[in-house]
Amino acid sequence: MSHASTLRMTATGADGPLSGSIRVPGDKSISHRAVMLGALAVGETTITGLLEGEDVLRTAAAMRALGATVTRHEDGTYTVAGRGIGALAEPADVLDMGNSGTAARLLAGILAGHPIFAVMTGDASLRRRPMKRVIDPLSALGASFWAREGGRLPLAIRGAASPLPADYTVPVASAQVKSAVLLAGLSAPGISRVVENTPTRDHTELMLRGFGATVMVNAMKEGGREILLTGQPELTGRPIAVPADPSSAAFPAVAALIVPGSSITLEGVGMNPLRAGLYATLAEMGADIEIHDERDEAGEIVADLTVSSSPLTGVDVPASRAASMIDEFPILAVAAACASGTTRMRGLAELRVKESDRLAAIATGLAACGARVSIEGDDLLVHGTGAPPRGGATVETHMDHRIAMSFLVLGQVTAEPVAIDDGGFIDTSFPGFADLMRGLGAAITEG
Ligand code: S3P
Repeated sequence: MSHASTLRMTATGADGPLSGSIRVPGDKSISHRAVMLGALAVGETTITGLLEGEDVLRTAAAMRALGATVTRHEDGTYTVAGRGIGALAEPADVLDMGNSGTAARLLAGILAGHPIFAVMTGDASLRRRPMKRVIDPLSALGASFWAREGGRLPLAIRGAASPLPADYTVPVASAQVKSAVLLAGLSAPGISRVVENTPTRDHTELMLRGFGATVMVNAMKEGGREILLTGQPELTGRPIAVPADPSSAAFPAVAALIVPGSSITLEGVGMNPLRAGLYATLAEMGADIEIHDERDEAGEIVADLTVSSSPLTGVDVPASRAASMIDEFPILAVAAACASGTTRMRGLAELRVKESDRLAAIATGLAACGARVSIEGDDLLVHGTGAPPRGGATVETHMDHRIAMSFLVLGQVTAEPVAIDDGGFIDTSFPGFADLMRGLGAAITEG
């Protein structure tokens, strides 16, 4: 998103306990994939609960520019009329992926398997983020790329007319890289093999299966996974119900934990085990989170969560858990700042290349609010005192929606207000955040 003016927002402290039952918007990762796979399928895909955040709307616009028909109906349902694998059309103009790394990297995979020319760009945050991690494996399949210094957007791509199947071990724990290679592998004959040493969110694999592709997943030594995709499948359009996003639910959940006397219910939250690391960590910290009515919705596990305010204790979060909560460290750090004792979050190198350098943004913002924080190598340490930090700062969000929301949550319990320099980017993943939070009893003002 490239909004011209900034939207300063301030959290002035909740007046009393948070209460109520809400459903946060649809899962961002699943929404991107539903639109993309819908466009690659034959026939119609109907999507309910699609996240109408800026990031997903960029994906929808890109798939339209590539020839798919993506229609929003009055009730908020979307239909995608697909073109079939290999049948996307050359876009007439540059594809602007806004703030979204997922949109850019997954689309690079799709384009790599189509014999067309396309150019992608994004906002200032996305143009800083590394794309070499997808350029390298996709080049090996036969696609050509031209990018700025360091593999940054804008990036031009000529997809392969006859892509080779992949045989690739993903060098960083990244579902985006894994997914890009699998999506390119759809266009290749034979079996594409992708190995990940650390399992990452598997929405692409689950959804590909749901659309009719053959995807085998084998467990490897030390927790790794081997994914085998049979190329050139016929994907068939299907209905998809998008669960509420566990990464968005994390903000009201932590708010309810830290505002005394609160109890809220979050409905229909995605509980894919490869996304649920935050909830396991909070439980270890002493959080009262009840998980009810666990059910399967279109191949994903979904549940209702009741979260009640709880005294929290610092914990050691192992590096092996980082991938399953990679987007939740900003809000975990806020919980840790209100806990008693030190929370050590290990193995956070990837946070440096998110929408902002999140390691720096969290540490600087928390320190400005009076918390004691340190970074040791790739670990973040937050030293809680058992009481919230004092607040009284304006936090720089660096075009990062999750930094913005995390500090608006912290400001519900600080003695002095917490302001953020720009809340405009919240719409990338959580449109309606401030209203939903206010409905629970949070105090958030614009300005
Ligand atoms: C995502 C994967 C993660 C995550 C991002 C969404 C996805 O990125 O941070 O918000 O939908 O595949 P990496 O795979 O690069 O860690």
